[in-house]
Amino acid sequence: MGTFFRNSTLKWCLLIWTFLYATALGFIPLPKLKSVQSPLDSSEPGPKQVAVIGAGAAGASTAYSLRKYADSLGIPVNITVFERDSYVGGRSTTVNVFDDPAYPIELGASIFVKVNYNLVNASQELGLNVRGASYERPQETNEVLGVWDGEQFVFVMEDSSSWWNIAKLIWRYGLAPIRAQNLMKATVSKFLQLYDEPMFPFKSLTAAAASVGLLDATSTPGATFLDKNNVSPDFARELIQASTRVNYGQNLPLIHGLESMVCLATDGAVSVEGGNWRIFEGMLKSAQADVRLNHTITSINRKLDNTVTISFQDQHTKQRADFDDVVIAGPFQYSGITITPPLEHNPDNIPFHTLHVTLFSSPHRLSWKYFNLKSPSDLPPETILTTLPRGTDLGNTENGVGPAGFWSISTLRTVDAPSETTEQQFVYKIFSPERPTANFIRDILDLEHPGTATKPPSTGITDLPTDDVSWSHEKIWHPYPFLYPRVTFEDPILAPNIWYTGGIESFISTMETSALMGKNVAALMTRAWQDQDEDGEVRGLDDAPVVQPDEQDERVEL
Ligand SMILES: Cc1cc2nc3c(=O)[nH]c(=O)nc-3n(C[C@H](O)[C@H](O)[C@H](O)COP(=O)(O)OP(=O)(O)OC[C@H]3O[C@@H](n4cnc5c(N)ncnc54)[C@H](O)[C@@H]3O)c2cc1C
Ligand SMILES: *[C@@H]1O[C@H](CO)[C@@H](O)[C@H](O)[C@H]1NC(C)=O
Ligand SMILES: *[C@@H]1O[C@H](CO)[C@@H](O)[C@H](O)[C@H]1NC(C)=O
Ligand SMILES: *[C@@H]1O[C@H](CO)[C@@H](O)[C@H](O)[C@H]1NC(C)=O
Repeated sequence: MGTFFRNSTLKWCLLIWTFLYATALGFIPLPKLKSVQSPLDSSEPGPKQVAVIGAGAAGASTAYSLRKYADSLGIPVNITVFERDSYVGGRSTTVNVFDDPAYPIELGASIFVKVNYNLVNASQELGLNVRGASYERPQETNEVLGVWDGEQFVFVMEDSSSWWNIAKLIWRYGLAPIRAQNLMKATVSKFLQLYDEPMFPFKSLTAAAASVGLLDATSTPGATFLDKNNVSPDFARELIQASTRVNYGQNLPLIHGLESMVCLATDGAVSVEGGNWRIFEGMLKSAQADVRLNHTITSINRKLDNTVTISFQDQHTKQRADFDDVVIAGPFQYSGITITPPLEHNPDNIPFHTLHVTLFSSPHRLSWKYFNLKSPSDLPPETILTTLPRGTDLGNTENGVGPAGFWSISTLRTVDAPSETTEQQFVYKIFSPERPTANFIRDILDLEHPGTATKPPSTGITDLPTDDVSWSHEKIWHPYPFLYPRVTFEDPILAPNIWYTGGIESFISTMETSALMGKNVAALMTRAWQDQDEDGEVRGLDDAPVVQPDEQDERVEL
């Protein structure tokens, strides 16, 4: 059983985003160590001009890796990162309880795993503090995690010695936990081959996934994948599905086998003190990238020689600029970017999940009554995950939340109240498919319902008195795609000199995999420069023209 059960805090069924044990790669020394400048050029060419669209995990990792590869080969490169939001991090970002910078909490991606080498190595190199994911939990109850089906807790894990939790698991589920763990390990080790030569860097994610033998997992629903491997349905529903729901808002009949395995690989969950976005901020700094916040890219115009003109907009003006290469580092379907002349194939629009994240602080504990516990001394678990009750048929539907009505409720930490006269406050995080109603919040905190003649039931958390909810923050995300079974994935090369990281999200959607794809794109781009140089040709002239000459020099004042 080894390390799987060893970590005392979140352990096992606790969800997360692991992966990445073992191997990992250093920056792969690219084989051809020649200067990129063509001997035929009489004038020194300027630096390679690269535009990265998006300052999230993928874009930051692209810039970080590109700087390393280019420097190690002596290729001058100028990296400009355009970000339409006013902050770095994308779906990895924090907000401050009471707007107090002493209390940052994750609004998006909260956890990665100790052995996630792209993120962990970068945190180390950048001098960031990484600590256990449950570091700040109040630990008022021994019950760290419970799985709620809307009626009862079908499983509760205690913060006791691990042998006790293991004994309980085996007693209840027989060999299923061990089989599931072995299946997860085998799947993870296939995935990790993507990190190293000869798989890395990969021009086709589909081909790479096939070569390492992962298409069986991605083409099969999680429920079938587990069943085929003799993992019992009860264990799958009560524990693994609790994890696929909190991580991806999806039940096992819907989410593919590979992403289900990611949800099982949870050992050593960590986060960066102050916020995971600090990794991406540090990467961009280290890349010496010129980061333009509040800049929205509106279009990419492909030119005859495969370089591009990019149109962008800041708060005041529209502008355009020329680049050698451009990286679209986020989901294409939400980028609003038009590419002209059009690509042969645009990345497909795929359904994304809609997730309501509700953060709030309150002096009240979660209600023992709401969770059908026996007495006021029974505190609900610190992390409440959910699953479907036995025998429901909702697992296949996109709106599969079922009777629980929410994906998870976590007690994150305690904070001192803003005014000294009030009690200490608990900080909670709810994941749900709809906005939680004020009545739902009243119920889980055991608050009085106001008289019937008051506000309509459509009111939300902001309608509660500040004595009960001292602070709140709500956010609706498109956090990840619906991870339907599939066997093809969008490639990292959309057209010559136009690169894309988002294809990996239908495969595995995490900060680490986005960072891996960013690094992959950086490696492919550097190789392409070397190849061009090796050919000794003026770049691109023998490639098929992508625009008519008269369009090419068009310069519109924007
Ligand atoms: C609530 C929530 C919880 C999650 N939990 C976890 C977790 O615990 N662990 C984990 O690993 N992952 C988690 N994830 C998923 C994780 O956040 C993502 O997989 C990852 O951050 C994606 O990174 P990215 O760089 O690919 O995309 P993004 O972070 O979305 O970055 C893309 C960036 O591009 C910018 N952009 C887009 N279009 C344009 C344009 N036209 N011009 C300029 N800029 C543009 C966007 O503003 C954005 O900043 C979670 C996500 C959410 C929302
Ligand atoms: C992370 O660092 C370890 C130890 O230095 C190294 O062996 C590994 O290749 C690195 N992995 C990545 C992805 O950077
Ligand atoms: C780097 O790129 C920016 C943005 O396009 C540009 O303004 C700047 O002049 C470039 N610097 C060099 C040295 O090429
Ligand atoms: C970006 O815009 C926000 C408001 O929209 C502003 O507060 C912030 O200062 C801007 N940041 C930069 C770097 O221009």
